[in-house]
Amino acid sequence: MQVVIVDTPAEVGRVAAAKITQLIRRRADAVLGLATGSSPLAIYAELARQVREEGLDCSAVRAFALDEYVGLPPGHPESYRSVIRREVVERLGLTPALVKVPDGTAEDVVAACAAYEQQMSEVGPVDLQILGIGSNGHIGFNEPTSSFASRTRIKTLAPNTRADNARFFASADEVPTHCVTQGLGTILGAKTLLLVAQGEKKADAVAKMVEGPVISMCPATALQLHGDAIVVVDQAAASRLTLTDYYNYTYANLPAWQRFYDPTGPR
Ligand code: F6R
Repeated sequence: MQVVIVDTPAEVGRVAAAKITQLIRRRADAVLGLATGSSPLAIYAELARQVREEGLDCSAVRAFALDEYVGLPPGHPESYRSVIRREVVERLGLTPALVKVPDGTAEDVVAACAAYEQQMSEVGPVDLQILGIGSNGHIGFNEPTSSFASRTRIKTLAPNTRADNARFFASADEVPTHCVTQGLGTILGAKTLLLVAQGEKKADAVAKMVEGPVISMCPATALQLHGDAIVVVDQAAASRLTLTDYYNYTYANLPAWQRFYDPTGPR
């Protein structure tokens, strides 16, 4: 796992975006895995800037969202389908037909999950999966004790996840109790995993993910099983890591072929 520690939340977005830009400039029809929530917003903001100011073309990019709430009406502003359209498709100029989101309204959720896996296997593998991390260590909505072999399925949201996400809704009661999420096995199938975290609230989960034992109580430790996982965090989210000096030294001395971010580039 490559751990990159930067000074500010905005820089987390710029560094992570640089990895994605490198991919899209090499392959215009790359397959991206999209996360929602607050963590990747700085990435999408930086990519949107590059689209506006540097001619980055995302129109051929194909994308799969990580997860979706179950039971929200399709047009609900906090359904992840709506969030992805607003924050990603429209701002980055993705082609709507090339962007898939799990169906949280299907009558037969099991069949919808199987269909999503099928679509992913026809188009995939995902080249780069963007991830955030929950304060309880979840990735996607794979809550603690999720199987490392799990595929896309319905999950019950943990009470602390519902509490964390209440900020997006008018009241805590409105946060759905269930979701459809890519499984840990699905996520591990992506060629590259790119996880971002900002703020002290994520420090404990980040430390467990990077330096703790691989354990389903912290689903994000699945990243230790992946051969190409990059974790970009700000100082606050990195504050409980113990090998900080080693990560900083490694990043400062990356071989040229592994570098993807130019700190002197445009802001
Ligand atoms: C969202 C997702 C979740 C979030 C996590 C962190 O698609 O899969 O795992 O990444 O809950 O949420 P934020 O970024 O809002 O703190």
